[in-house]
Amino acid sequence: MRSITNLLIGVSAAVALAGCKAGGDYQGLEYAPNMYHSVAYEPLIQITDENAGWYFEALDNRKGEFFNSNPYNPYKMNLRQPPKNVVRRDAHGWLPYRGTNDEQGLAAADKLINPIKDTTGIVLEQGKVLYETYCKHCHGAKGGGDGKVAQGAKINGEEHSSYPGVANLRGDAYKNITEGHIFHVITYGKGLMGAHGSQVSEEDRWKIAKYVKELQKN
Ligand code: HEC
Repeated sequence: MRSITNLLIGVSAAVALAGCKAGGDYQGLEYAPNMYHSVAYEPLIQITDENAGWYFEALDNRKGEFFNSNPYNPYKMNLRQPPKNVVRRDAHGWLPYRGTNDEQGLAAADKLINPIKDTTGIVLEQGKVLYETYCKHCHGAKGGGDGKVAQGAKINGEEHSSYPGVANLRGDAYKNITEGHIFHVITYGKGLMGAHGSQVSEEDRWKIAKYVKELQKN
């Protein structure tokens, strides 16, 4: 009898220890894996069918694996809706730009100070990359208003007519515009130039503005 007990203890120990052999892609045998791998709640998920994914039977609550919403929240999302009038701040703690898209807004923007300081020159480098992504095709590499789109170009054998009236940012008319002015123009566009506020973040718009001023110097 004793030897059977010993044998059983030995076998269980062997089985238990086998679970410790984790490595590479194999995580070893786990006791109660739900304790380690908690169910990830997706903030916007709206799978409201409690039986969705029933075939996995992995959840303790006996609901389907894919059911992942919260019946008590609006729209059954896991995320609570923010209270009314809450305004998002970005990583800098900045509120969204509230200058208005009109003459007064532009006049007020002229006086804005670029909140991004460039002590190491890295901001100008980033501004250059951003300018070349969003502006160069119209305004040209040096801001001369001679980008491919402004001139019209043959691209993949297809003729593209020129885009009229692109501003020559090196010209006298624009020499004295401020970084705030440029920021505002990128945000809302002006005349024939479209708005870029939805594509380019506030931070990046300030970086571009800094770079445009640099372009004008050389
Ligand atoms: C699709 C072509 C196009 C793109 C892209 C474009 N612009 Fe323009 N931009 C124009 C045109 C055209 C004007 C002249 C607008 C007018 O006065 O009618 C202009 C005018 C300007 C002005 C002068 C505004 C003023 O006060 O009169 C600035 C500054 C400017 N753009 C900056 C930029 C910057 C920075 C970018 C990149 C984020 C950019 N633009 C992207 C076409 C473009």
